[in-house]
Amino acid sequence: MADCGFDPKIGKKFWIQLSQVYKSLYLKILWYKVSLPEGWTSEKFYVSIITIAMRQKIIVGNWKMHGSCSFARSLMQDLLQGGSESVSAEMVVCPPAVYLQYVSEMIADSNLISLGAQNASEHPSGAYTGEISASMLKELGCRYVITGHSERRQYYGEADAEVARKSLAVSNQGMVPIACVGETLTERQNHQARAVVERQLDAVLNLFPADRLEKFAVAYEPVWAIGTGQVATPDQAQEVHEWIRLRLSEKNSESAQRCPILYGGSVNGANAASILAKSDIDGCLIGGASLKSDEFLKIYNEAGWRKFI
Ligand code: 13P
Repeated sequence: MADCGFDPKIGKKFWIQLSQVYKSLYLKILWYKVSLPEGWTSEKFYVSIITIAMRQKIIVGNWKMHGSCSFARSLMQDLLQGGSESVSAEMVVCPPAVYLQYVSEMIADSNLISLGAQNASEHPSGAYTGEISASMLKELGCRYVITGHSERRQYYGEADAEVARKSLAVSNQGMVPIACVGETLTERQNHQARAVVERQLDAVLNLFPADRLEKFAVAYEPVWAIGTGQVATPDQAQEVHEWIRLRLSEKNSESAQRCPILYGGSVNGANAASILAKSDIDGCLIGGASLKSDEFLKIYNEAGWRKFI
């Protein structure tokens, strides 16, 4: 599997994807060629276009505190059977910590599914009862760890600084933190969405080494969209994703183009396609719909082909 970037195994599908991108952006390319931003060479522009095409979509299932051993077994069997190597998206499951070992063993012989955790301690080890270190998660085969989910911020008082330290602890183990950001409904209504998202992101970026941004992911999850059925419109999500990409590029302009920015909040099989069609939306972080194999697979299949506006 790729490290948040181009997976050489995609092969044929990648070239098809690239030709689609090229076709749909052809006129835009011609236009940009005569009006490139200051300091941009046309080589840099073309490399950026190719980099965008290479961003593999990632579909992450956050099971939250749901399930049982038998549920995990049956869901994973369905996903293993229903997934396909010809789909160019990466599928990630984040079960509750107690099922990580079990799920890890189930997917050991498969290239289809990656493992993620829902949380990690900021500390490497020590007397922290009930906590799980990043190195333990790494040992279980985790490739991703969600950090700063709004439910952790809301119910467990995780502040920006702690989320930043957790993201760094995850990265120190060579895993990819999926740092969650997102505004509440009141913040959006008060036109504070951008300020909130940037504050949450800056806290992590200020601590995160710029040269590790290639192995970093962000999930924009507006709190008002989580578990409510009220999904952000594709344009609303795209707007925030653009702000995030801009912020990332201030830290490291090249890595920012490869960094996956996922959308989360009431994504399901019916609305995923229009969200995934946006150019800065590189995948989804899915709660409720990740507990139903048919729904989750539908989203994964939608993500397999890059669609452009
Ligand atoms: P829902 O998909 O259930 O809205 O949850 C989103 C989420 O919180 C994923 O982390």
